Amino acid sequence: MIECTVWWSSPLPNEPKYLELLDSLEKGRHEAYRQEIDQRRFLTGRVLAKTVAAEHLGTTADKITFDATCDDCGKPHGVPRVPGAALALSISHSGEMIGVGVTAGTKLGLDVETATRRADDSLIEYALNPAEMAGLAGLGAEARATAFFTYWTRKEALMKATGRGLKIPLKAITLSKYDEQAALLNSEDPALDPAGTRLEDLKAGEGYRAAVAFLTSDDVSVTERWWTP
Ligand SMILES: CC(C)(COP(=O)(O)OP(=O)(O)OC[C@H]1O[C@@H](n2cnc3c(N)ncnc32)[C@H](O)[C@@H]1OP(=O)(O)O)[C@@H](O)C(=O)NCCC(=O)NCCS
Repeated sequence: MIECTVWWSSPLPNEPKYLELLDSLEKGRHEAYRQEIDQRRFLTGRVLAKTVAAEHLGTTADKITFDATCDDCGKPHGVPRVPGAALALSISHSGEMIGVGVTAGTKLGLDVETATRRADDSLIEYALNPAEMAGLAGLGAEARATAFFTYWTRKEALMKATGRGLKIPLKAITLSKYDEQAALLNSEDPALDPAGTRLEDLKAGEGYRAAVAFLTSDDVSVTERWWTP
């Protein structure tokens, strides 16, 4: 059984005790965000990921340095890894929720989204294939948004688990219905094989949808925990 913990946090303040945990590349990314809340979400994701990684590796957060080189372009905005460590991490932020999922090396993808906004037709058209879209027919605005962001977070979690993110078209995969057990039914992209993936919805928080995906055919046990620094 593969164990995964998903840690949740609200945005930390831009305080020196947290900022000093960022390396120079991370400080550059933090400063480049124009909105303070975006800075704080980024800061929280990295501080939480370093804290979780340190716990797994028996060290302290200030000793953790991530390699987040993007496989596509070489910039430092890719999946954070601790080179040589038996550890895999996935970070996601939306609204007031910042999440970090961790395993002992099984590739995973985490996604959280605020589900209280409107699910625009253009977004639905971009993300869902006809079979999934048919399931939204007849729903009122609120139920439609919840159903859509359930699909969206499940799909993005799967894409993030591959490390390619939204480079894989969201329509290339077909999922189980939004109100059924989360599962990948079909994939036109070789990076995602239904027999070799596991997908779970998460509780996250009121007004949010969240999911976590794994590239494995083994059973996975997921625990959600709230982090207080
Ligand atoms: C990664 C991606 C899914 C993020 O989606 P999002 O909903 O905006 O953001 P989330 O908060 O859920 O996730 C952000 C985290 O995803 C992680 N991430 C970045 N690239 C990733 C990738 N290719 N695969 C998986 N995770 C990735 C990072 O840890 C990032 O956290 P950070 O801000 O601390 O660096 C999306 O931006 C994407 O698909 N990017 C890859 C393709 C691309 O356009 N790359 C840029 C040009 S090379």
